[in-house]
Amino acid sequence: MCGIIGIASNKSVSSNIINSLKKLEYRGYDSAGLATLKNNVINEKKCSGRVEQLEKILFKTPAEGSLGIGHVRWATHGIPNEINAHPHSTEVVSVVHNGIIENSSDLKRSLENKGKKFKSQTDTEVITLLLAEELKNKKPLEAVQDTLVKLKGSFALGIIFKNFNNIIIGARRGSPLAVGYSKNENYIGSDSYALKSMTNKISYLEDGDVCILTKDSVEFYDSNKKKINKKVLILSEDKNIAQKGDYKNFMSKEIFEQPITAKNCINEYIDKSRDEINFYNFPLNPKTVNKVVLIGCGTAYHSCLVAKYWFEEFTSLSVETDIASEFRYRSIKFSKDCLYLFVSQSGETADTSAALDLCKKNKVKTCSIVNVVESSIARNADWVLPIHAGPEIGVASTKAFLGQMLLLYMLSIKLADLRNEIDKKEYQTKISDLKKLPNLLEKCLKSEEKIQFVAKDFLNSKGSMFLGRGFSFPIALEGALKLKELSYLHAEGYPAGEMKHGPLALIEDGLPVIVVAPNDKYFHKTLSNMQEVIARGGKILLITNNNDSVISENVRFTINLPSIEKSLSPFLSTIPLQLLAYHVALLKKCDIDKPRNLAKSVTVE
Ligand code: M6R
Repeated sequence: MCGIIGIASNKSVSSNIINSLKKLEYRGYDSAGLATLKNNVINEKKCSGRVEQLEKILFKTPAEGSLGIGHVRWATHGIPNEINAHPHSTEVVSVVHNGIIENSSDLKRSLENKGKKFKSQTDTEVITLLLAEELKNKKPLEAVQDTLVKLKGSFALGIIFKNFNNIIIGARRGSPLAVGYSKNENYIGSDSYALKSMTNKISYLEDGDVCILTKDSVEFYDSNKKKINKKVLILSEDKNIAQKGDYKNFMSKEIFEQPITAKNCINEYIDKSRDEINFYNFPLNPKTVNKVVLIGCGTAYHSCLVAKYWFEEFTSLSVETDIASEFRYRSIKFSKDCLYLFVSQSGETADTSAALDLCKKNKVKTCSIVNVVESSIARNADWVLPIHAGPEIGVASTKAFLGQMLLLYMLSIKLADLRNEIDKKEYQTKISDLKKLPNLLEKCLKSEEKIQFVAKDFLNSKGSMFLGRGFSFPIALEGALKLKELSYLHAEGYPAGEMKHGPLALIEDGLPVIVVAPNDKYFHKTLSNMQEVIARGGKILLITNNNDSVISENVRFTINLPSIEKSLSPFLSTIPLQLLAYHVALLKKCDIDKPRNLAKSVTVE
């Protein structure tokens, strides 16, 4: 994963590098570093831990220079320590890298055979040493181009050179890299968000591209070493600059702004005067498409699972869901009459991006549902549906999940309408019901106090189980994922009906079991499964909007949610589960916005 930044300027760059690295920390935060260049001396500073730590080091020993590169790391090769932190430098060159060099062991062996010594355990250091070799008799651009052909795997690179005081070279294969332009200053960065405070003029490198920048110029070359031109995009003003405000952390802000997220998304797509959903430019004829395949990772994949139930219920389409890392390596039988839908908050997830590329190679139609509209996945799909959730900073995805589900729900009913598979009146009732969602979400957030109370039950338990049926099964999976990633406690999500086929053996006295049972066609079945758990000692937290008090007997705690049209229940049930994970993590004093071992944007496979 990792985030990289590079700045060529006419003034000192280290503080802007630090500011950009803070914005890139969502990509990795186990170590940080930078290298600046002044009077042909490379000043390298690095540390394990956060950018804050690096800032403290710079405060004591500044890094001078009007040219520099910086990095935040999510460790792939070698533990997160100072030596393995980037940049990796020799006497002549300094490199920051995002991605994985798959043939690094072979390259390392052959460099060692030539007497080269490695300082770190990283794959990146092979690039530094290869470059140092090439630079003995080549200029920087040629040395970089000739080094890149030896590398297998994925990379975005930022490179500075001791003997060339005014240039930074960037390169991309697989991992994203943007270039930013300003007066007397040019930049490279892993994303436009890191550059936004310095410029709104951006270009993106494509796979195989190399760029060479000075403070006054930027040149691009393709993989055949041919000079190319790039379109300059003007980024829209970010009305939603991510600030924590009065919240303790971004995650709580993002949970609590979900009613607004829903409102914005609904306003964006629903024409309220006609109760109509405005989706235009379908890449396939909605009447002849016969299948949708929904693909994503983690939470985004869970939104696909929920959507499967919607598409199947409202349309005659056949529906498949796939985890991107599996999809990309299977022997898929691609179909021209199928719409391949890619769901990703960041739009940069390596597996999802590779799965999309595979579809493109097979010439089938693709749609992306993303939060970051400038992302690679958005740019590469035939059709883009942005969720308009605003920047999501907390590593745990919350409001983006809601936005993804909203888009998928709207798409399912819109397709049903265009295919004449839903009665017009029913379609419009569904749209009216959808408009009530922001207020109902607001009510669900009021469950926080009760959730805070139950959160204590999880502190000393061995683990927990999350159960649901129908739409509520993926919601149970999502609840378990949130708890795991935030509180580091073991949790399992299961279809309630599957318990007796094995997992029931895990139930023992006092084990917390969260049952998601909205008032839908599965309600009574789920309740029977819940009784089987109670009979074996499970301590139940029931999440329901069937407010009949009898069902709460033998239940340790019930979270009562407002009534809602049945197919919309996943939106409401999600809220208490997010709050639960949040409060357990808070009690355990975990780092809520940056859980250990994770990163917001997973740009390695
Ligand atoms: O940016 P994406 O939506 O493609 O990310 C996919 C997953 O990495 C992401 O949803 C992850 O599972 C979250 N941290 C879960 O909260």
